[in-house]
Amino acid sequence: MWDRYARGKRGVPERTVNAAGQRTWFNWTQYPDHGPTETVLGSPASALELGCGTGRNAAHLAVHGVEVTAVDVSLVPLEKAEQRWGHLGGLRLVHREAVDFLRATDERFGAVYSVFGAVWFTDPEVLLPLVRRALRPGGVLAFSHEPPIEGCYGCQGGYVRGPGGDRPSVVRRWAYTPAMWVDILARYGFTRITADIVAPPPARSGDVPTLLVHARV
Ligand SMILES: C[S@@+](CC[C@H](N)C(=O)[O-])C[C@H]1O[C@@H](n2cnc3c(N)ncnc32)[C@H](O)[C@@H]1O
Repeated sequence: MWDRYARGKRGVPERTVNAAGQRTWFNWTQYPDHGPTETVLGSPASALELGCGTGRNAAHLAVHGVEVTAVDVSLVPLEKAEQRWGHLGGLRLVHREAVDFLRATDERFGAVYSVFGAVWFTDPEVLLPLVRRALRPGGVLAFSHEPPIEGCYGCQGGYVRGPGGDRPSVVRRWAYTPAMWVDILARYGFTRITADIVAPPPARSGDVPTLLVHARV
């Protein structure tokens, strides 16, 4: 399913410079040059990204001196990431499913984050205890994705077909309001939890906002 998603994006060229002329940048939203930056994470020495795709956010952190481990279940975007960012010393790209990675690792990170990534597509009951264990004391968990559709909470499943109408894949994602996220994270021992809705840019004011969640252990 994720290989197919990434292949679908093959023809879309990635931007190499943002509006401010920077070669790397961090974006929590689905809109270019919009919303909060990497400062949401504080100043971690090390970070783990869950579902890094082509690695642009991880590359930005690595350029700024963070030791980043960027994990993705699909090799298709990771190959792109390797081509574009493989030369960066502080960036480790890992082909692994997020829960598998977290179960196997003994490493502890200053931050764990996910941008429209594995946190959205994994049962929080499974993921959150593992993320908590992977964080150093005082470490930050932050993630973003689309907010829920009113009345549709918990696991949301769907079928995804390729352009040729081939056998459908299944995608599952977990949808909660900001208040629900605060309760869920508190249950797993996270503290100083904030969950905010970031409005789209004014030029796209009717479009989908972004849910941005931040917590500490
Ligand atoms: C919508 S894309 C977002 C990619 C990237 N974070 C970005 O902002 O461009 C979701 C990514 O999460 C990855 N992903 C989804 N579920 C995952 C899981 N359980 N473990 C690891 N990666 C996962 C997919 O392969 C895909 O690259």
